[in-house]
Amino acid sequence: MNKIEQLHNKVAQAHLGGGQARIDSQHKKGKLTARERLLLLLDEGSFEELGMLVENRNKGLTTEQEQFLGDGVVTGYGTISGRLVYVFSQDFTVYGGSLSEPHAKKICKIMDLAMENGAPLIGLNDSGGARIQEGVVSLGGYADIFYRNTRASGVIPQISAIMGPCAGGAVYSPAITDFIMMVEQTSYMFVTGPNVVKTVTHEEVTSEELGGANTHASKSGVTHFACANEVECIQYIKQLLSYVPQNCEDKAPVYPYTLGNETRTALNTLIPENPNQPYDMKEVIAELTDENSFFEVHKDFAENIIVGFARIAGRSIGIVANQPAHLAGVLDIHASVKGARFTRFCDAFNIPLLVLVDVPGFLPGTDQEWNGIITNGAKLLFALSEATVPKLTLTTRKAYGGAYCVMNSKHIGADLNFAFPNAEIAVMGAKGAVEIIFKKEIDSSPNPEQRMNELVADYTERFANPYLAAEKGYIDEVIVPDQARIKLIKGYAMLENKVVNMPRKKHGNIPL
Ligand code: COA
Repeated sequence: MNKIEQLHNKVAQAHLGGGQARIDSQHKKGKLTARERLLLLLDEGSFEELGMLVENRNKGLTTEQEQFLGDGVVTGYGTISGRLVYVFSQDFTVYGGSLSEPHAKKICKIMDLAMENGAPLIGLNDSGGARIQEGVVSLGGYADIFYRNTRASGVIPQISAIMGPCAGGAVYSPAITDFIMMVEQTSYMFVTGPNVVKTVTHEEVTSEELGGANTHASKSGVTHFACANEVECIQYIKQLLSYVPQNCEDKAPVYPYTLGNETRTALNTLIPENPNQPYDMKEVIAELTDENSFFEVHKDFAENIIVGFARIAGRSIGIVANQPAHLAGVLDIHASVKGARFTRFCDAFNIPLLVLVDVPGFLPGTDQEWNGIITNGAKLLFALSEATVPKLTLTTRKAYGGAYCVMNSKHIGADLNFAFPNAEIAVMGAKGAVEIIFKKEIDSSPNPEQRMNELVADYTERFANPYLAAEKGYIDEVIVPDQARIKLIKGYAMLENKVVNMPRKKHGNIPL
């Protein structure tokens, strides 16, 4: 055999991973192989593989390990829409994609390259966890990855797709990355599986219920996206990347846009006159942003707040918005954490923020207090306060109490604060306020109900409006709703070169 043939044979062997039978079994489970996934993800012909011929010479704890070229992970670089990305894709056909020492080293090499060259890292995870044959060496490999994930946080975007098992310590690499996508039915994430759960807590639960895509998308918030299948998952990765820059020094891609008629008359009637009547903030977002550009993140988790990317006149923005159609848009623990994490991603990667406000306040109750709404609510306050990207606020209706301060008020550094004429910027709703400040007067009145109604009407007239805030300069402009989009376009253009110098510090101490 000549030398070139020998190389071709090795490449062909590496492409077979753990062998045809295991590839077939992967397909039978409705899963693609590591290489098939990369073919879908990357621009055609752009993938350059590194470390294809790595072998594992480590002696197993009991017997020699069988050799597979590449050792259970395909790593390299390529492009998505012409932009450089670094990738690793775990190969379940080799020891269940489990992490050995050389497997970890291959991933670390790619991570180091991604950091040094300032491009996103995408991990396609499909792994039985630590390579059991290798014991602590494998655990060391995980820790090497976690350390790099942490160092890379805020430097390059990191995206984790979970396309099979992800259990035990393995979950902590995706957890540190910026976004997690999970595939319904074929992926799961948990620290301990159903068997251990049954032994320890006597709970009977399936893998899907315990840590499937829908569980983590709606209950825990661990995953940002639950995808119907692997193709959709890969599509989401590409879409997400279209809104973000390559690294923290870069700016997000700009899409061509020519200004036209930017008046959006639907906004004049979208928000109900009655402050207690719900409406869907996503309809407001659709009017404000470029057509079909809204890409929602964490859609099924803490639905009382909406977060996601969009474009305004071709430029990426990150939106944090109260959702009056769900729990009246109240801020609770999950909503605060969701909003804070998204805000910090946008700020780390130079994506301007738009905060849409219609918030009745923080959710009261023992559940919230005992689980730390104070600490968790403070996360959103901290994240918006520390963000230095252009920050615009539009108050569509209510902004009450502490939640007014938190939702990107002028006081915490918003650059431009707009309000619709029906906005109510006050310490609380009229009825609640009157009950407290006029309690004695109402109680001693010959007709308490009538007196109460009079006082509520008076309070509403005097305080439930945007003009007191505008008088103080807390609102820069009260605008006719149909002008909101053009105001935002001009606002972002005006702030394009914003620079803020932060006080010297090692890092802040966000309440955790
Ligand atoms: N280390 C070494 N090999 C592993 C492995 C691991 N952690 N996990 C799976 N494998 C191997 C299996 O031995 C099997 O090898 P084979 O192809 O030679 O038969 C192959 O990967 C596929 O595993 P299998 O159990 O047949 O697949 P499955 O889809 O039925 O189940 C898991 C997948 C992940 C649920 C199951 O393999 C498992 O529980 N693995 C152990 C998880 C674990 O405890 N990890 C260590 C702690 S983090």
